[in-house]
Amino acid sequence: MKILALIGSPRKRGNTDILVNEICRGLKTKRHAVEAIHLYDYEILPCLDCRHCKRSEADYTCPLMDGMQVIYPKLEDSELIIFGTPVYWYGPTAKMKLLIDRLRPFIASRRLKGKIGIVVVPSEEGPDCCGALMEMFRRSFDYLGMKMVGSILARAYERGEIEKNPEEIRRAYELGLSCRIRED
Ligand SMILES: Cc1cc2nc3c(=O)[nH]c(=O)nc-3n(C[C@H](O)[C@H](O)[C@H](O)COP(=O)(O)O)c2cc1C
Repeated sequence: MKILALIGSPRKRGNTDILVNEICRGLKTKRHAVEAIHLYDYEILPCLDCRHCKRSEADYTCPLMDGMQVIYPKLEDSELIIFGTPVYWYGPTAKMKLLIDRLRPFIASRRLKGKIGIVVVPSEEGPDCCGALMEMFRRSFDYLGMKMVGSILARAYERGEIEKNPEEIRRAYELGLSCRIRED
């Protein structure tokens, strides 16, 4: 089964990257095909509300030619999608928000319906500051017909600081380990 992890922090080997990779390490023990991508490696243009993606004759596709044309098929092919983003001003990073806006084709096409998702969010303040961000993900998953099966909300500030918190690292690994995904 395919799994796609979206890392929405600009910091490689930062806290989001580390936590997402721990989940992936747990998932890989079950021989799932896991791909992790850094959103900052891709150009993602803002949604222009052109409504092209609502048209059946356009097969509900987005006409913007950018990195999303590479990411769209990966999203469609995956059964589990991991969304990792640090808290930036009580929301996701701008790059993650660009990606979420561009999920609009999946409203009409329903091609993400039935998929499961995990949300990973490090922040300086910790879980208490993640309410608005988690509500955004919960409502967006509902709208897309996706189911949230787990989340990791962790306190960390400096790049890689989360590694000093073995309890959170273990929780992330075990979330991946315990994730129930259909075997091929
Ligand atoms: C622009 C910006 C805004 C931030 N806003 C918040 C915030 O509102 N609340 C918070 O707790 N941490 C905030 N942080 C801290 C990050 O969430 C924190 O450093 C996180 O661990 C970064 O994750 P990373 O290592 O994956 O990039 C902010 C950081 C930046 C750069």
